[in-house]
Amino acid sequence: MSGIHGDLFMKTFKYYRARVPLSTFSAVIETDSSNFQDKVTRVTFDGKTHDDRLEILGLNSFDNWRVFNIKEHPGLILIRNPFTALGQRYWIRKCLEEYPRKPNKTNIDIEVMLEDWWKACFEGDKCNKKLLKKLRWTTLGYHHNWDTKEYSEDNRGAFPSDLAQLCDVVATYLGYTDFRAEAAIVNYYHMNSTLSAHTDHSEVNLDAPLFSFSFGQSAIFLIGGKDKTTEPSAVLLQSGDILVMSKEARLCYHAVPKILSAKTSTWNKDVQKIYTKTKPKFKYINEIEHIESMNRNYNDENWFLFDDYVQESRINVNIRQVLNETQSKLC
Ligand code: SIN
Repeated sequence: MSGIHGDLFMKTFKYYRARVPLSTFSAVIETDSSNFQDKVTRVTFDGKTHDDRLEILGLNSFDNWRVFNIKEHPGLILIRNPFTALGQRYWIRKCLEEYPRKPNKTNIDIEVMLEDWWKACFEGDKCNKKLLKKLRWTTLGYHHNWDTKEYSEDNRGAFPSDLAQLCDVVATYLGYTDFRAEAAIVNYYHMNSTLSAHTDHSEVNLDAPLFSFSFGQSAIFLIGGKDKTTEPSAVLLQSGDILVMSKEARLCYHAVPKILSAKTSTWNKDVQKIYTKTKPKFKYINEIEHIESMNRNYNDENWFLFDDYVQESRINVNIRQVLNETQSKLC
């Protein structure tokens, strides 16, 4: 227990976790609402006005992004409306259909090694709901070791190139030109799931920002200080939001005490195919294939399976740089 002020983080966590009426969530910061003008500052970035990769990665043009600093937490940035509806669908599908496949790791591995979790859920006549709900996390790139909390070269897979490009677009926009996406944890939440207070400090490089993408249902996100004596702020995270933990906020305690129903399913609103005219110079992506797999989510007959999942769940993709700029591997 922490000092004379006790564990204020835990107290707040328990408050939001309890099944209290929504009206008691009035302190949860909604960055777009005029009620929170004293808590947030809307910021604009003069640097980059365009990136050729936006459309192909399912992102809106920069002038549609709404970027907020959370005043009490220097370095905590929330980007609203960066994704198109098709883009949200693309990343939702990746998180369900592709990322939990071997050789990536999931929480289910200790029970049974499934080559392809999503496929296994739909084998036979009916969907295996129990298996569908069992997935809590999958790791990509340097796999997070939940016991030792240490990364190692022996426990490393390939990092998806499109996901790395997505982070690079966001990082470059914010002025982090050297960011390298090297490890990801994808968290899967159901309506009664929570994530307890923790800090992310396993990376060698603790100066690089951490990028956190939210899809599906909404969440109350708590962020406090470097120990648990600071009373945390509560911020609403909605589908398509990007939260960036940088500078002082990078090492602060954070948690998810509550999942809330989304006000609207923004991934189903005004979905449009892409017909890109620009030629993004991707080094690692086959553009034709990539555009096809993006557009597949426009009217694919199987899309409803992914929609059913996120109608009752939230997905969070949490991405970190592990190494220092001069390193190519862990010592
Ligand atoms: C995390 O801190 O690992 C996840 C946060 C979130 O789900 O938004």
